[in-house]
Formats: sequence, C-alpha cells, structure tokens
Amino acid sequence: MKFSEDLLSEIRDKNDIVTVVSEYVSLKKSGKNYIGLCPFHSEKTPSFTVNPDKQMFYCFGCGVGGNVYTFIMQKEHMSFPEAVRFLAERAGIILPEEKEDPEYLEKLRLKKKFYEINRIAARYFYNCLVNSDQGVRALNYLKSRGISITTIKSFGIGYSLPDWEDLICYLKAKGYKETTLEKAGLAIKRKNGEEFYDRFRGRIMFPIFDIQNNIIGFGGRVLDDSKPKYLNSPETEVYNKRKNLYGLNFVKKHLVDDRILIVEGYMDVISLHQYGIKQAVASLGTSLTSEQAKLLRRYVKNVVVAYDADTAGISATLRGMDILKNAGLNVKVVMLPKGSDPDEYIRRFGKEAFLEKVDKAYSLIDFKIKHLENQFDLKNLQGRVNFLNRVVPIISEIDNEIEKDAYIKKLSQKLNITEESIRLELKKTSKTLPVNGFKHNKGIKWNDNKERLKIITQSANIKAERDLINLMITDKSYYKRIFQEIDIDFFSDEDHKQIIKAISKGYENKNNLNSSEVIDYLEDERLIRKASLIFSGEVFFTETERVLQDCIKTLKTHKLNKRIQSLQDRLKKLEKQGDYSESKQILAEIKTLQKQTRII
Ligand code: GTP
Ligand code: MN
Repeated sequence: MKFSEDLLSEIRDKNDIVTVVSEYVSLKKSGKNYIGLCPFHSEKTPSFTVNPDKQMFYCFGCGVGGNVYTFIMQKEHMSFPEAVRFLAERAGIILPEEKEDPEYLEKLRLKKKFYEINRIAARYFYNCLVNSDQGVRALNYLKSRGISITTIKSFGIGYSLPDWEDLICYLKAKGYKETTLEKAGLAIKRKNGEEFYDRFRGRIMFPIFDIQNNIIGFGGRVLDDSKPKYLNSPETEVYNKRKNLYGLNFVKKHLVDDRILIVEGYMDVISLHQYGIKQAVASLGTSLTSEQAKLLRRYVKNVVVAYDADTAGISATLRGMDILKNAGLNVKVVMLPKGSDPDEYIRRFGKEAFLEKVDKAYSLIDFKIKHLENQFDLKNLQGRVNFLNRVVPIISEIDNEIEKDAYIKKLSQKLNITEESIRLELKKTSKTLPVNGFKHNKGIKWNDNKERLKIITQSANIKAERDLINLMITDKSYYKRIFQEIDIDFFSDEDHKQIIKAISKGYENKNNLNSSEVIDYLEDERLIRKASLIFSGEVFFTETERVLQDCIKTLKTHKLNKRIQSLQDRLKKLEKQGDYSESKQILAEIKTLQKQTRII
C-alpha cells in the first residue's frame, strides 16, 4: 500500500508533533523548541527536543530523531503504514481505501458514536457520584477505601443510580435511541417486550479507556458483598477485553524505566497510581491474552506481574507468564503475602515496601520452581523425585548455559541429588521449546557512540555538506543554485547523497519542502537518524549567500584535493617500484589541479 504525498502531508499537518509527543512525554517550552526527558533512553536531564517549526524531534543524548511518523513508529512499535493509519485515525482522516468501503465507514461511524455515548455516560456517572444524594453512599465507600477525589477525577470514576432506566432516560433525552444504547452495551432489552433497562445500576463505575483515551466500556462494582462483584461492558464494536488493558492510557505517559506492572483489578491500578506508582495496568478480568502481551511489548521490554496471592491469582500468573514471555517480554513476578493484593499491600505497608517487592521480583523460572516446591513434600525421596520430574522441563527451557548450571547446582543441594543425575534427566527431556515467534521492531537508536561522535567531530567539508543540505530544504531556489554549480558527486558522504536524493524526490512535485517530509523518503533507520541530526542543527544563515558560496567552494576544493591526494599516492607507489615513466605526466596533472584550487 502506497500512500500519496498529499495524504501523508495532510495527516502530518493534522498531527502536530508537539501535541502528539505530549501524549507520551511531558514537554516544556524552551526558546523555539520544546524539551523533555527522552522516552527512548533513560536520562535525568532533558536532552529530547521537539521543534514545532520543523515538526521534528531529536534527542541529543541517544541520537533518536525524526518526524511525527517516525516518533509513532518507534514509540508504538509500528511499521510505517501502521503509523500512517494510527495518525490518520487520531486526526479523524479517512484513508482513500476506506472511503470506498461502505462497511468500514459504517463501522467507523458506529465507533465514533459509541465513544461519544460512553463519554457522555461517564460524565453523567461522575456527576451522580459527586453531586447526587444517592451518590453519597458510593462516595463514602470510595473514601473508606482510601480513594481521593483527585484520583476519582483522574480515572473518571462515577456511580450509576440504582433506578432501572435512569441512564436510558438521560441519554434518550439527548437524542440517542435505545437500540443504539443496547449495542453500546449500556442498555439491556427486557425478556418479553420492546422495553429496555440500564445494564449498570447502583454500581461504582470505572470507565475503561483505550490507548487513545477513548472510553470503550465500563466496569461496575457493587458497594457491598453482593454478587456479581463486578459487571463489565459486553463485547461491542469498540470494547474487546482481549485487546485492551485497563490503565494503559495513563501508564503510557508515565513510563520511566522500561517496565510495566500487571495487576488483576481496577482497584489495584487505581490504588497504586494514587501512591505514585503510575505504571500499573490490569488485564480486565481475563487471563492475559497474546494480543495484550503484544500491546505491552509496544511500550516496554520488562513486565512485572503482581497478581493476587491466592490460588486463582497464581494459576493466572503461571498462564499469563508464558504468554508474556512468548511476546518477547522479560517477565518477573512479585510474590505478595498470602491473601493480599497490591491495593491492600500498599495501603498496609506503603509505597517503599511495595517497590521493594517489585525490585525483588522473582524470575519466571524461580517463580515456577517456588510454586512447585509448595506442591511436593521435599522431605521424602519420592516427593523429591516427583518434584524433580516437574522441575526438569522448566530448567531445560533456560537458554543460558551458565544460568542453567547455577540452577542445577542449587537443585542438587536442595534435593540432595547429584548434579549428574539431574543432568541425565535434563538430557532425556527433548527440547520442545516454543518458538519465539514475535519479532519486535527495534527502536531507532545509535548502534554505538562512535557513529555519533564521527558526525559531531567532522571535517570542514562534511560540515559544508550538511550546511548545503540544510540550505537545500530551506528553499527550492537554493537547491537549484547548488546544483548549477556542483553535482551530487561533490558530496563525499554516501549518506548525504541519499538524503539529497530524498530531497530531490520531494522537490519533484512541489516547491516547498518541510524537513519532516524528507524523512518519509528515507527508508533506512540509520539514514533517518542522520537526516534528523542534520535537520536538527540550527541554521543561523544571516548571510545565506556567503554561506552558500563558501560551502560550494569547500566542496570543490575538497574534491580537487582528493584527486591531488590520489595522484600523489599513485606517484609514490610507482616510484617505490622504480617506475618513473609516468612521473612527469602525473606531476603536471597535480600542478594543474593545484592551480585550479587557487582560483575556486
Ligand atoms: P476490589 O475487590 O474492590 O478490591 O476490586 P479488585 O479490582 O481488586 O477486584 P478483584 O481482585 O476481586 O478482581 C480482579 C478483576 O477481575 C476485577 O477488577 C474485575 O475486572 C474482574 N472481576 C472480579 N470479580 C468479577 C465478577 O464478579 N465478574 C466479572 N465479570 N469480573 C470480575
Ligand atoms: Mn482488590
């Protein structure tokens, strides 16, 4: 699928880079630019800059850079077409292919309508919670659980009144049909007849957001011990519990250390958040799915699972961990005291104690072994052998031989069974490892600092090449002028040549070029980085004419000098071999070239 240049420009124009980046990074204005902490590497002082004029970002710390498309590609781990669709949807732009698909358009219309209805409903629930007489009980309940009004506001928590048709009446008055409300998951049709009643009644309401902050559904909790404790939205056109994670929209903005915490409940996410641990998501009452794991992998490499310390929680953990691992995530597990969940734990022992648990989280292997240990009686031999039979397949999954060795030693001591026997058992287990099918798109980073250093401490001609590139995109007339005087072979840096080719492509069908558009013509990640670095250079061209002439002069001289150098090398080589036959001719040529350098 190839997107037209016009479409790409339109999408870019409607997704201001400062606004888009702000959804992931807290930015501060600094002169013409915005700065913040780089979301692609960890740092304490901001070196990540966003330039609204150029619609580009660049990090002086790690070298990532690009336009709004590259930002989304890296941050959301998307391919270019995916990023285009993502940003088109964000800006409400319908792609040409979609315009011709009536089914798609109808779906899109419905989705928008449901988002709108859900938002109105959420506002209404919030109002019922804080402004109605009946809401007082719910408000008190939340207070009794330590939830502050600020938290209520930031999570949009609300209350559905106990009446049967309260929300329906409210939304009907706003012009929505009952059948639409049914499809949106808010109303239920009565068994016999045409009438409808509210799905959520007398419940604390937790709006569920997608990563773009649309409200896609609700979870509703009772205020007492009645059942069911939670009622969730059914699957709708916009709500799919397998594909979403509660709280991810909030977490997205607060990622600091490449790690997300996975908990079981809404209340866990909310409570942790209130204690300043803003990196928790909940799996919406299902066991983790591979879709959710992939979604997480778009944001982080590490996850820490902190499920309830009951048997259901543990088996959910065990199931979930392999799914997470197979998505390419490093998984660790927090072991909480029996019977508690993260919400209770943090309220009882505080933030520091909880964070310590997180830092001391078990590896997948340790957790599995620990869990097995509790199931067997290791005091008698048969118990130990049975335990070993179950442990061996776990150990055989370890790729790293040193690590594997360490486990074998530990087990041997613990079970009082020789290392040899354990190794023998290991050999017997054939390796039927799951293939790690998920290949993740690496963020654009400098391979090593050398590459970066090379650019910074470059020679005069390379600097001139960069200045010329910057001039080229400032104005087409400069572009034309430059190529009247020199051709692309005067540029000695191969990457610069590629970037210039991209600029030429850009100028093929338009007269004004934005540096961020040039990025779209570059396919290689390394080139995108390099171009971003070049474009990020502030160009103070007060005397553009002089700069232009100087740079061209530098390139011309450089080219001649290179030619002279190679002739001199050749001369030396020949004379070393005792061959003087061409010396005279070569020397003459060198002289002519030297003369030329003086008249440039
Ligand atoms: P509190 O009990 O108020 O602390 O809530 P919690 O969020 O900690 O819930 P809990 O740990 O009991 O359950 C974890 C998650 O499972 C909840 O957030 C819900 O998403 C889901 N869940 C729990 N109970 C029910 C239920 O009765 N029905 C449904 N559909 N989902 C439930
Ligand atoms: Mn709980």
